[in-house]
Amino acid sequence: MNNTDAIMERRKDNGYYCWLEYGKLEDVELKNIYRKWCANIVKFGDTPLIKCAVKELIIGIENMLGISPEIVSIPIEPSFITVGTLGQNPIIDKAVGENERKDIMEDGFLIKNIKTEDKDYIVVTGINDKGVLYGVFVLLRLLRMQKDIRDIRKIENPYFQMRMLNHWDNMDGSIERGYAGNSIFYKDNKFTDDTARVRDYARLLGSIGINGIVINNVNVHKYETRLITKEYLPDAKKLAEIFREYGIRIYFSINFASPIEIGGLDTADPLDEKVKKWWCDKAGEIYSYIPDFGGFLVKADSEFRPGPFTYNRNHADGANMLAAALKPFGGVVIWRCFVYNCMQDWRDYKTDRAKAAYDNFKPLDGMFDDNVILQIKNGPMDFQVREPVSPLFGGLKKTNVNLEVQITQEYTGQQKHLCYLIPMWKEVLDFDTYARGKGTTVKKIVRGSVFNNKYGGVAGVANVGDDDNWTGLQLAQSNLYGYGRLVWNPDLTSEEIAEEWVRLTFSNDKEVVDTVSDMLLKSWHIYESYTSPLGIGWMVNPHHHYGPNVDGYEYDKWGTYHRADYKAIGVDRTVKSGTGYTGQYHKEVRDMYENIDTCPQELLLFFHRIPYTYKLKSGETLIQYIYNTHFDGVEQAIKLKEQWQSIKGKVKNEIYEHVLHRLEGQIEHAKEWRDVINTYFYRKTGIGDELGRKIYD
Ligand code: GCU
Repeated sequence: MNNTDAIMERRKDNGYYCWLEYGKLEDVELKNIYRKWCANIVKFGDTPLIKCAVKELIIGIENMLGISPEIVSIPIEPSFITVGTLGQNPIIDKAVGENERKDIMEDGFLIKNIKTEDKDYIVVTGINDKGVLYGVFVLLRLLRMQKDIRDIRKIENPYFQMRMLNHWDNMDGSIERGYAGNSIFYKDNKFTDDTARVRDYARLLGSIGINGIVINNVNVHKYETRLITKEYLPDAKKLAEIFREYGIRIYFSINFASPIEIGGLDTADPLDEKVKKWWCDKAGEIYSYIPDFGGFLVKADSEFRPGPFTYNRNHADGANMLAAALKPFGGVVIWRCFVYNCMQDWRDYKTDRAKAAYDNFKPLDGMFDDNVILQIKNGPMDFQVREPVSPLFGGLKKTNVNLEVQITQEYTGQQKHLCYLIPMWKEVLDFDTYARGKGTTVKKIVRGSVFNNKYGGVAGVANVGDDDNWTGLQLAQSNLYGYGRLVWNPDLTSEEIAEEWVRLTFSNDKEVVDTVSDMLLKSWHIYESYTSPLGIGWMVNPHHHYGPNVDGYEYDKWGTYHRADYKAIGVDRTVKSGTGYTGQYHKEVRDMYENIDTCPQELLLFFHRIPYTYKLKSGETLIQYIYNTHFDGVEQAIKLKEQWQSIKGKVKNEIYEHVLHRLEGQIEHAKEWRDVINTYFYRKTGIGDELGRKIYD
């Protein structure tokens, strides 16, 4: 066996194919029903995406049903699957009713079973070929989950227009906040030769409806700055071709100082004519290689990145200048709102990083061009285990906005701990900002339907690397899958997404589905319970953000961030007596957070400074709550392992052993968290555990 064969062989067992594993169907009766349709594929159209859709159908059918379908251009058998866009062929057009046609939107699809006197077939169609591809992936998913598709009539449209991934990959092959190996795109400051792997990645993303991908880190260093030059554009073009086949456009993160660093100019001032011209020419050059190029992602004037501030210009000046360069080609500028002063002195009780994004961007609302999108992290700080929703959602009313979430588990256990993030993102998307009265949820704002925005959607910071299973911890694949599903349809429940993922990845066995789903669904709360309490955040080691360190917040050399002393802990962010952060929300939300009695308990220490002896609604004192949750978190982590052990023999052995090993590591690490945090508070307060448990070694 040569090396490539060996890799391919191993991939059958190590989780490489993720949710596109397409294991053989267990139900023989259903298999026979499916085979009847799947033996013949009637294809209409010849675009690359239609070809891709058919190729995917073949892969899925061969694997799941053990038959090789015949591809034809006119129906020969009475039963078949037909794929193609509307308006190409009467067989498809006749199958779609007038109302159905109206309901199918851009990138949406219809899957429908048609029965006539002599025929019984399945139609997969859309108004564009991307919709057909999505429809095919959904049909395959239904087959894998052994759903009854007799009489199916399913129309789906994507909820968000932009469904993006942001890669924080560097060209030397490293990944900022990557926990699953090195980059799948770059090595040694060159693009990878392993285009087969990139293609496999594109398949995974296409299958869940992702339609845009930023291929380099927001922190743009020396080599990545040169991505937009002819040194790298030919390679980027090849990458774009692979992604295009799956309906995905590529974007670059750019360095705002590029005109100086690679353009030979002496300024990057956005109002300078030479600079404007330089970017216009640059955009033209990029589009000559990549005609469907998506646009630029920009981190400016934050954490030492260059930006318009150097020239006394504001973010709108910077973003609009780039937007003008991209506009003739249909490109967009995605400008990040993660802007704050990391040199802030935390001893001053009025300063508050949480206020920074709003303070920077709210005054500029309405000043951005219509192809600029402001990208806002879900919370006002930085992807903590628990944060309130950023007040910029609903604060900005005249600007396109994207929501940015972090799939990679920087602060949520770094893919060594199990932490299924879908419930967190759902809370964000469903959060009511009250910007236009009750029901003005984040998802509606981001979709663009509240303020009539031209663009909008969600970006997730990717969690993949070149580990065989892509995500380090195999179970963390559920976060990538779930992210895609949620941005396609945010009304899916966390339970539905978990169940789908388990069925597609492992099997339809009820015990496996129930056990793994339950593990996933509990995991965020478990992680939260043994790490920092009640929304205070940041009790991690500085810089690498892993492991407990109560005073670890790196931008606070004074150890005062959480305001803990021997009597109380928490940051008072109220208008009445604190930093005034709550004042950035609309009235209903502000009132809720401002008042200690209505502030949700899980965010209590984010908004209020509370004595350790304060009685929570559960009747526990704050200090006892901290002890209880930290002890309990470890017990729960132990249960995760036991649950996993209960399905031994029902999942592939290699995956079983790998996950078991990680869960064992999680338990040990949870104990460390428990002991460090509990000991800190015991020493600080001198109050012991009511239940007499041993607090430190
Ligand atoms: C976090 C993260 C950085 C990242 C930054 C950003 O601070 O730790 O690695 O660069 O977010 O989102 O820009």
